[in-house]
Amino acid sequence: MANLLAKKPLGMIMTEAGETGEHSLKRALGATNLISLGIGAIIGTGIFVLTGAASAQYAGPAIVFSFILAAVGCVFAGLCYAEFASMIPVAGSAYTYGYATLGEIFAWIIGWDLILEYAFGAATVASGWSGYVLSLLQDIGIHIPPALAGTPGAQFVMYNGRWEALGRISRTLAANGVDPASLPHQSGVFNLVAFLGIAAVTTVLVIGIKESANFNSFIVVVKVCVLLVFLGLGINYILQHTSMATANWTPFLPPNQGEFGKYGWSGVVRAAGVIFFAYIGFDAVSTAAQEAKNPKRDMPIGILGSLVICTILYILVAGVLTGLVKYDTLNVPDPIAIGIDRTGVRWGSLLVKIGAICGLSSTMVVMLLGQSRVFFSMSRDGLLPHWASAIHAKFRTPYLSSIFVGIFVAIFASVIPISILGELVSIGTLLAFVIVCAGVWVIRRTDPDLPRSFRTPWVPFVPIMGMLISLLMMIGLPFDTWLRLIIWLIIGMVIYFTYGRYHSRVQMGAGGPKTPEPRPTPTMAD
Ligand code: ALA
Repeated sequence: MANLLAKKPLGMIMTEAGETGEHSLKRALGATNLISLGIGAIIGTGIFVLTGAASAQYAGPAIVFSFILAAVGCVFAGLCYAEFASMIPVAGSAYTYGYATLGEIFAWIIGWDLILEYAFGAATVASGWSGYVLSLLQDIGIHIPPALAGTPGAQFVMYNGRWEALGRISRTLAANGVDPASLPHQSGVFNLVAFLGIAAVTTVLVIGIKESANFNSFIVVVKVCVLLVFLGLGINYILQHTSMATANWTPFLPPNQGEFGKYGWSGVVRAAGVIFFAYIGFDAVSTAAQEAKNPKRDMPIGILGSLVICTILYILVAGVLTGLVKYDTLNVPDPIAIGIDRTGVRWGSLLVKIGAICGLSSTMVVMLLGQSRVFFSMSRDGLLPHWASAIHAKFRTPYLSSIFVGIFVAIFASVIPISILGELVSIGTLLAFVIVCAGVWVIRRTDPDLPRSFRTPWVPFVPIMGMLISLLMMIGLPFDTWLRLIIWLIIGMVIYFTYGRYHSRVQMGAGGPKTPEPRPTPTMAD
């Protein structure tokens, strides 16, 4: 039993983090790159899609409070991530923090769990991304056959001369009194669009961290500009039509309708659980710690800076959107476009498509980046096969890990209907938050004197609140999601007990030398 709780010595972690040369990851990222990586991961489907449905179904204009509530939970967790990332600046993020503080079995659980956040997250996002790309291509006259634009069985209907995913358009059809059965139908076979999207992102990730960061920064600028244009147009319109906005904001907190989660304060809580997805990603910044020039200073800036910027943007967008449009009409796939349309601008829908495509592209970049770095760290510790930590001699990226993750995610996104997996991404992320918050508390007791360039304030209050709020949001998720999480963790345990446990460097070191030699990182030349 004791072996399962073997901890990775901090000295060993620091030695690995300090490695330089062609066998190591390249330190190329500054504070701005890290903030941009965070924003790249955070702004995506959540704000562009979920805001409308959560407001219409659960919270009304008080969706603003839901964004604040979810942000508070994320800030508690973000403060804990910031302490760890400045103290243990390695690519493994929560996985390595767990190894250093709680022991190997917890590290494995968290590493395996992070696949849900990063790999499944990227696949989920790729699926939504392909829908927007398909729509934009049709706008410019390029028609991809539905067989190549959806996972097997996904239904498409021909409406107004365009192939539309039935799931996206069903509400519009109902509102116009059109029976979907009366329209030409086709089914998806292989989502080539999502496959190519992941393949393109993987190529950039293999070529270099700086190239990936630059690509990310470019698309981050575009998607933030889209939100700023929305805010500019919306605030201007609201200032000229204050009585309309006041009417839309009244009642700001619609009274509860006798059922938990249907408006009222319980609705605010439920909507917070839904739009929590919009904040996922700030933690991925920590997986780039080994590629940061000055991680001790810049990691907290990247994690907390991106979180604060996105929180402010989200609260403003939610407030303006519900001022422009009555909340009960917002249960649509493109609520921000509906908001822009209200201001009288006709290019709102195009603008939002561009914003969403950029938003989701950079989310894919950072999620895939995070996944390959976690695999890299697990492989260096011996818990995954050796090849996963191979570094490309020229590009200085964990190229085999990136390619493996890319192939897995691309196939997953193109053939498996993944709508049901969206909540798995949230529960996986929340579990990681719980373990990281617990880890900060533990390491403050076990290693109080370790140098920390950033200290989480008010320990243990902040970690406890981070754990409680994350657990609350987990409890709000459906039972099926819990069941899938448990099955996923059982699969992970089988792999650990048949492979990882016998190859773990820390386990080997436990019976031999106290600090085992770092496993050499293979390069392409090996
Ligand atoms: N936060 C990311 C999104 O909203 C995952 O798409």
